[in-house]
Amino acid sequence: MAAGREHFGSSTAATLAMAGSAIGLGNIWRFPYMVGEHGGAVFIVVYLLSALLLSLPIMLSEAVIGKATHAGTFGAMERLAPGSRWKWLGLLTVVTPMIILSYYSVVGGWSLRFFGEAMARGFDAGAESFFGRFIASAWGPLVCHTLFLALTAGIVLGGVKSGIERFNKISLPLLFALMLVLMGYSLSLPGSRAGVAYLLRPDFSKLSPSLVAAAMGQSFFSLSLGVGTILTYASYMKKEDSILRTGIGTAGFDLLFALIAGFVIMPAVFAAGIQPDAGPGLIFETLPFIFAKMGAGAAWLSRAVSILFFFSIVIAALTSSISMFEVGVAYLVEERKMSRTGAVLLLFVLTWSLGALCSLSFGPLSGTRILGERIFDLCDRMTSDYLMTFGSLLFVLFAGWKMDRARVRSELGGDGRLFGVLYFLIRYVAPLAIVAIFISNLIL
Ligand code: PFF
Repeated sequence: MAAGREHFGSSTAATLAMAGSAIGLGNIWRFPYMVGEHGGAVFIVVYLLSALLLSLPIMLSEAVIGKATHAGTFGAMERLAPGSRWKWLGLLTVVTPMIILSYYSVVGGWSLRFFGEAMARGFDAGAESFFGRFIASAWGPLVCHTLFLALTAGIVLGGVKSGIERFNKISLPLLFALMLVLMGYSLSLPGSRAGVAYLLRPDFSKLSPSLVAAAMGQSFFSLSLGVGTILTYASYMKKEDSILRTGIGTAGFDLLFALIAGFVIMPAVFAAGIQPDAGPGLIFETLPFIFAKMGAGAAWLSRAVSILFFFSIVIAALTSSISMFEVGVAYLVEERKMSRTGAVLLLFVLTWSLGALCSLSFGPLSGTRILGERIFDLCDRMTSDYLMTFGSLLFVLFAGWKMDRARVRSELGGDGRLFGVLYFLIRYVAPLAIVAIFISNLIL
């Protein structure tokens, strides 16, 4: 291990950090609306299969590379394949999370604004248009983006152990408890059972190639794959910690969280008699409206629920955004020999600037299109449809074909049969499936 390099205090701490990276807006914001757009339970079935057969092997590949080298993405490639073109993968996975962070922080900022609104006034019947009006303005979203990014930078500045580890240790259990309370509330609403059935009864006639590609893409996004966050966090694990346990724990928590978020949102959506396919605006436009509507009887309760809900989203978003920020910091500190403070400042300025353009692309810059897309959508699509899949492909190819099998085996641990299955998934199944997603993203 490089001298002076920090590491997580225990394997539980590493699992919490990775789970923190995985659990985020992807679970609470993206998963429910994707389920709603793709017909409910059938999407969940494909998602579960893809998490198990595809995402888990990719995550383990990434983690093996990080733990074997105890270096960030760029350094890991340099150590395992010195002087080769693989270093470009290292560089790609420094740039991708910075792009994701830029627009992620904008949505994190929206969550902060909604949390503030829930605290200050609560949502009334005009809640639906609140979102539209808010994102179309220039200053409000920009200020919230700045605040969210500053919170992220502040935590990362604290370091791996006293910043990232400590924040995740407190916030993840809290988040879990909050989501369970919210689920209880949603399930208690009259008419919520239709939402439960929607999540549990698959309608296989809705199965289609685009649904499969979307479910796979969602599971990549949700587990933060192909962007070096898992690699970087694994590089902070101690030699004796088990990747297999941490990886399975992370994937399990992430899945559980997505399902709980589904059971928070869909029962409420159905109880309010609203269509579940509202798309990305689902939690910002539809939910506040539901909270307002349900509040007719007990205003204080709906107010409390909306406060807890948006607080949960802010926390979940922060546990992910710090993981993205840390990838860039690890690179600048370890490979460019910058101080941690200097690295945090530089990355703050860069991601703030791109994020500001993303934020303004809903307001004053809404007419600006690049490749026919709004700046925010371009960053989102470029990363989740292409760069994450591409990064994931290179990671599995690296662990499956470039690294020595014995090295992978010894880093991964576990019994021989399990290793055999995982290695097969890493070498053959994952690369082929990723190429298939890639092609379908290009043509669908
Ligand atoms: N997994 C995060 C979520 O579900 O919200 C998103 C994410 C985090 C994507 C970190 C990429 C990343 F590097």
